[in-house]
Amino acid sequence: MSDKATAVAPANIAFIKYWGIRDSDQTLPYNASISMTLTACVSRCTVELLPEGPGELEVLVRTDGILAPAPPGFSRGIERHLLRLKTWAGIRGTFRVATENSFPTGAGLASSASGFAALTLAAAAALGRPLKSRELSILARSSGSGSAARSAFGGYVEWPDDKGEGSARQLAEASHWALSDVVAVVSSAPKEVSSREGHRRAPGSQFFARRLERLGEKLRRVRAAIAERDIGDLGSILEEEALELHLIAMSSRPPIFYWTAGTIAVLRSVRRLREGGLAAYATIDAGPNVHVICPSDEEVGVAAALRELNEVESVIVDRVGNGPFLTEDHLV
Ligand code: PMV
Repeated sequence: MSDKATAVAPANIAFIKYWGIRDSDQTLPYNASISMTLTACVSRCTVELLPEGPGELEVLVRTDGILAPAPPGFSRGIERHLLRLKTWAGIRGTFRVATENSFPTGAGLASSASGFAALTLAAAAALGRPLKSRELSILARSSGSGSAARSAFGGYVEWPDDKGEGSARQLAEASHWALSDVVAVVSSAPKEVSSREGHRRAPGSQFFARRLERLGEKLRRVRAAIAERDIGDLGSILEEEALELHLIAMSSRPPIFYWTAGTIAVLRSVRRLREGGLAAYATIDAGPNVHVICPSDEEVGVAAALRELNEVESVIVDRVGNGPFLTEDHLV
């Protein structure tokens, strides 16, 4: 018997950030987060369940159309998650996995969220247990990438901090509001400090408790801004949020500096774009690259301005999208 399944899952960009892990065994956050699911930045993953035997897990990565064995560090996270999924399904066997990202890996572009959401959806299908979005959210999160919980849904998504099962939920479908995420890539090199480590250090910042106190109001405003399609209100909060995440990171012990000179050049440029009348607002995850959120009818102007900057290596134009799906378009 051989069962093969392929899933495509998108990255997401957080408007309200998940930063700080309350329960690292269960991957549960200190605070609720809200994001937009993307459409161009995706991971594709094929999982094949092989017959019982002595075989080892094989993990292949496809880059520029070429399949090659994955580096050991990359395979370990996949192996741990597949073990968890086999226990959940009560099925034995070994796997062959092939994976591909449409964007740079490990550079603060949420490759772990899309990667683990795709792996979870494909592996569960290969194990004969296709998942609903809510189950996918819970299982993908158990990989250790909390933001993968949000990639289980399309559109606008909240991952609450309640004491429940830890599933994210959809706030609005993608069709509710056409927003774009124009990513200015200032470095595609993998980051030096993982977000896992950033989450662990966050509560050591003297500003962490204060952030949590004020977050309820910000969450309410972001939910309202999404419901009312108010880019001005959403934009001012998401910029504040990005600065706050990095304030916490820079005041953690030891401090973490994700920004480069290029990051600041892009932030300045976004301010100039606003002065010129574009509704463009910047947010930054755990890396140096800047995500510029704007109404989709302004994405061409925003992308053109960002491409002009010497500090920008490349620009990725992405939009709100519909979430993960299974496909017959296998990688192997
Ligand atoms: O899911 P993780 O552990 O990779 O953490 C993601 C953290 C941020 O991207 C910085 C914020 C977020 O909410 O996506």
